Amino acid sequence: MTGPLVGRVVLVTGGAQGLGRAYAQRIVADGGTVVVADLDAEKGAAVVADLVGAGGAATFVPLDVGDPAAVTSFAETVASQFGAVHGLVNNAAIFSTITMRPFWEIPTEEWDRLMAVNLRGPWLVTSALLPVLREGARTGHGASIVNVGSDAVWLGRPGYLHYIASKGGVAGMTHAMAHELGGDSIRVNSLSPGPTYTEVPRTTVSPEQRTAMQAAQALHRDAEPADMVGVVAFLLSDDSRWVTGQTVSVNGGVLHR
Ligand SMILES: NC(=O)c1ccc[n+]([C@@H]2O[C@H](COP(=O)([O-])OP(=O)(O)OC[C@H]3O[C@@H](n4cnc5c(N)ncnc54)[C@H](O)[C@@H]3O)[C@@H](O)[C@H]2O)c1
Repeated sequence: MTGPLVGRVVLVTGGAQGLGRAYAQRIVADGGTVVVADLDAEKGAAVVADLVGAGGAATFVPLDVGDPAAVTSFAETVASQFGAVHGLVNNAAIFSTITMRPFWEIPTEEWDRLMAVNLRGPWLVTSALLPVLREGARTGHGASIVNVGSDAVWLGRPGYLHYIASKGGVAGMTHAMAHELGGDSIRVNSLSPGPTYTEVPRTTVSPEQRTAMQAAQALHRDAEPADMVGVVAFLLSDDSRWVTGQTVSVNGGVLHR
């Protein structure tokens, strides 16, 4: 086996479907061992079975990133199985299941749960995994964390204010985490995707909105998972060893600022 991630263990939260599944597939193709962690045990196990069936190194571990006790026990499982971790993609989020509504109609419980998963989740998971990430970083290549944000923050699209606020938090958290972890040779960057269409059906974008979003891009087509995975692979690999604290917008050329 050859590839930039040979000998490395990389965790992907929310790897059971959509973009997370695509990252898991790429990590294995790049020679790494992937740990898929997800709330959906059935789909997560199926993703891993496919990867292992094709000769890859992959494991599924159930995880609810919104539950502190579950995150602690997840980190213990990872530590006992692997000891050292070299990469973490904080990808799990409440996203494709969101009901679009004006912000003044978002139920408080829905706001709190989304924040607990999308914003508190990456902080809890990263904190719990720090011992194994530090161990991975000691092996010579450093370690790399990719926090998945969203270009929705800069687009200001109406209908899901809690989601936008959570991803704005991810951007800020990423830059500060990079400074706090630089001394451990752990890099932290944020991938900020534009609208990307996966195998998961979406009711949150009308056909008219989809056309308008394409027109706003420099590249006038829909994005697909393959448009994101190369950037994640780059951020996980040594090719990005001097890149940390950055938010990388991958959006077909929408100018926000
Ligand atoms: N697809 C897009 O257009 C787009 C654009 C910008 C950002 N993003 C971000 O990319 C990431 C993946 O997007 P997607 O389109 O694949 O989303 P998705 O909704 O299809 O998949 C999310 C995955 O996270 C898992 N998950 C949800 N809550 C969880 C929890 N509490 N604990 C563990 N796992 C949990 C789900 O089971 C699912 O497997 C998300 O962070 C999303 O916000 C997506």
